[in-house]
Amino acid sequence: MSPTNLAVPLLIIFFYLSFISSQAALPLQTPIQKDHSTSQYVITAYLRTPLKLTKLLLDLGATYTWVNCDDYTSSTYRHVPCNSSVANLLGAYACLDLCDGAPSPNCGNNSFILFPDNPIKPVDYKKVNGVNTAIIDSFALSSTTQGSLALINSFIFSCARTGFLKGLAKGVSGLAALGRSNVSIPVQLNKLYTSYPNCFAICLSGSKSQPGVAHFGSRGPYNFLPGIDLSKSLLYTPLISNPFGKDSDPDKPRASPDYYIGLSSIKVNGKMVALNKSLLAIDGETGSGGTKISTVVPYTKLQSSIYKTFITAFLKEAASSAFNLTTTKPVKPFRVCYPASAVKSTQTGPAVPIIDLVLDRQEVVWKIFGSNSMVRITKNSVDLWCLGFVDGGVNPMVSSWIRGPSVVIGGHQLEDNMLQFDLQSKKLGFSSSILSRGTNCASFKFSTKHV
Ligand SMILES: *[C@@H]1O[C@H](CO)[C@@H](O)[C@H](O)[C@H]1NC(C)=O
Ligand SMILES: *[C@@H]1O[C@H](CO)[C@@H](O)[C@H](O)[C@H]1NC(C)=O
Ligand SMILES: *[C@@H]1O[C@H](CO)[C@@H](O)[C@H](O)[C@H]1NC(C)=O
Ligand SMILES: *[C@@H]1O[C@H](CO)[C@@H](O)[C@H](O)[C@H]1NC(C)=O
Ligand SMILES: *[C@@H]1O[C@H](CO)[C@@H](O)[C@H](O)[C@H]1NC(C)=O
Repeated sequence: MSPTNLAVPLLIIFFYLSFISSQAALPLQTPIQKDHSTSQYVITAYLRTPLKLTKLLLDLGATYTWVNCDDYTSSTYRHVPCNSSVANLLGAYACLDLCDGAPSPNCGNNSFILFPDNPIKPVDYKKVNGVNTAIIDSFALSSTTQGSLALINSFIFSCARTGFLKGLAKGVSGLAALGRSNVSIPVQLNKLYTSYPNCFAICLSGSKSQPGVAHFGSRGPYNFLPGIDLSKSLLYTPLISNPFGKDSDPDKPRASPDYYIGLSSIKVNGKMVALNKSLLAIDGETGSGGTKISTVVPYTKLQSSIYKTFITAFLKEAASSAFNLTTTKPVKPFRVCYPASAVKSTQTGPAVPIIDLVLDRQEVVWKIFGSNSMVRITKNSVDLWCLGFVDGGVNPMVSSWIRGPSVVIGGHQLEDNMLQFDLQSKKLGFSSSILSRGTNCASFKFSTKHV
């Protein structure tokens, strides 16, 4: 669905609003649009009463959704009382006992307080005035195939100040949390629509005009043109929990909201890359290391020593007679680029050595073909294909005592791949590039039945 024809379903949404709250609206398919100036993935939700269209940054690694409340009006919002059962779901944070000002989303007595963060530009709390209260209000996602909304009357999220929006795509006023938590969007949907699987899936599109899709409450079918059900072509690997999230204290670990998977080795053109295996495991004392999946990092980040070994292996294989590629002056942030004219093209993008992410077993392999490994750079009279992986440093700190993962699989590597997060079975279903099956994430069969 293009932005221009969003207006029609929106009118219909308001018209039918009074009929939908009792209607089972799962499974639900909702579009995910890429913002090209920031490489962020954005979903459209509806919040408040009356419902208002609200664009949110899609974040697979966030605990709770947050929305700018500095201009928030709604006839139905409520604060979360401290020490309430909802507050317990959110974990121990802080309480605003007394607020002197006029009652508003940011001001209420006995209101539970949260500490939202912006994954693009971390927030300096010293520079952002005021507290961020937890809020309960109406939230909905459009279900494009059924012409209805999946409405959550008592959706739990956090307020945030305008200063939290720095670095987010134009028009975005908050963040949609899909992370591992008690209050992520899929978990709150699942609590309401209990007969549907506790499972969601995303298929990100890099297209400027056509969105990709998120599925909630379904293990399939995921029907794409021309008649392909991608739920039938998934491989599965366990979703791993990192017990040390960035909100951990030395005496009180808090699990990370990120989805980790068990990367055991990397191959380039079928050849094993010699890596320090201890970096691929999650350290049992600090949470450092391991491999997570992120929709807010545009290109896969590799720990410095992994990155160096990996690009050396890639350069060698790309120079071999099968590819015969000679590098040219790279364009930042990339370090390995080839003239586009020297690279042949295939159904799965530029012809370059295939990268295999070998997961929990030798036969469970996430294959990265040229369309996901390479980035086309056409500017300032250059036309290049660059290896779209970046040096992530040496497990930088993510909080005062927690270090980050060794591998962060980023957005460019996720596009045109189907990823299914089965929260019940705690496993990831993945397809590798669906271009090899003759479809792509923008070819989801959004029904236009309701228009
Ligand atoms: C919440 O519980 C804490 C500790 O049990 C207590 O000190 C505080 O007064 C309680 N707050 C409210 C609003 O009941
Ligand atoms: C989820 O909720 C339970 C209480 O229902 C709480 O004990 C647990 O700490 C919560 N998990 C997280 C990650 O906040
Ligand atoms: C909080 O309680 C105090 C004292 O009861 C009251 O004066 C104040 O207006 C209340 N604040 C809000 C935001 O309701
Ligand atoms: C492998 O990585 C671990 C963790 O960073 C480090 O302690 C160890 O020295 C490394 N081993 C080698 C051989 O580089
Ligand atoms: C490899 O490429 C170079 C130029 O980049 C060319 O001269 C050479 O003939 C090519 N070799 C093969 C085997 O294609």
